[in-house]
Amino acid sequence: MLHKIISHTLPYFPPQLIWRFSKSYIAGETTRDAINASKALNRENIMVTLDILGKFVKTMPQAAENRDAYLALIRTIEAAGIDGNCSLKPTMFGLMIDKKTCFEYMRELTAEAASHGNFVRIDMEDSPCVDGAIDIFRRLKQEFPRNIGLVLQAYLKRTLSDLESMLDLRRDDAALNFRLVKGIYVEPAAIAYKDYHEINAHFLEDLEFMFKNNVYAAIATHDTPLIQGALALIDKYQVPKDKYEFQMLYGVTPKKRRELVQNGHRMRVYVPFGEEWFGYSTRRLKENPAMVKHIIKALFSK
Ligand code: FDA
Repeated sequence: MLHKIISHTLPYFPPQLIWRFSKSYIAGETTRDAINASKALNRENIMVTLDILGKFVKTMPQAAENRDAYLALIRTIEAAGIDGNCSLKPTMFGLMIDKKTCFEYMRELTAEAASHGNFVRIDMEDSPCVDGAIDIFRRLKQEFPRNIGLVLQAYLKRTLSDLESMLDLRRDDAALNFRLVKGIYVEPAAIAYKDYHEINAHFLEDLEFMFKNNVYAAIATHDTPLIQGALALIDKYQVPKDKYEFQMLYGVTPKKRRELVQNGHRMRVYVPFGEEWFGYSTRRLKENPAMVKHIIKALFSK
């Protein structure tokens, strides 16, 4: 009950309090902070994907600013010798305002990453964005076969058929590359599974489909039963170590992350950073109400 009340009132909490909780989940406010965090992770044999926390975009000039910020970030990743890439949210480049320009901006970013032999991944946002994200992925995959990946959400009932429908994009020299996640947004029951066990079962069904069809899988979860289920599938299909990776969020379950790395699995951490950390933090807290207890702790500790 207390968790529920706090979840609803989170947006009104003083930023200093949220920051005390958030600082372990966000690399910092600046690119330099993100690069330092990335270097530390790289030293632990962990790759990164960087995400600039952004405000909700209302105009195309804001989308152009985001494009410029990511262009600079891609160049900095290269200059700093980071083993990592960027994750891009289509709405940050104006997906819901001007699809054509959004595609052009995301194409520029993919072209920049490709010019350094690097990669960008399209994050998946809420359900009204899914068709648009898949369409952008399709077009970019044809032009930059080795430099673009997409996220798929196991809670969406459409995901397995989306996977099937994209198999035509496979090429012998450039596998399809999908990050599989449970899904973070609140979606209607008509289009999304709601039950924990049902979501997990579909996650593993999608993953099995990916392994059977030689799709590179980025297995993004901190959930122990899912990690175990993924390891069992890797074993069943004898998937080589360079055909999949695990992914986790910055600051979340570092012990599980270390165990996987020690056992020789590739690992990538999603590193969010930027001045807009407040919205990101409150979303994370709402998503995982158990974490609200840390807020309560922070309220009473010095
Ligand atoms: P689950 O939510 O069941 O969590 C399992 C356990 O992990 C929890 O009990 C807790 O111990 C720990 N945990 C999980 N989340 C935590 C958190 N925030 N803080 C602290 N502990 C936490 N979603 C989406 O819709 N589109 C996207 O593009 C992405 N991208 C993405 C990238 C990466 C690298 C990851 C890891 C996740 C995403 N997600 C995402 C989010 C994803 O959909 C999902 O909401 C979270 O990963 C939480 O789900 P789990 O699979 O970890 O399981």
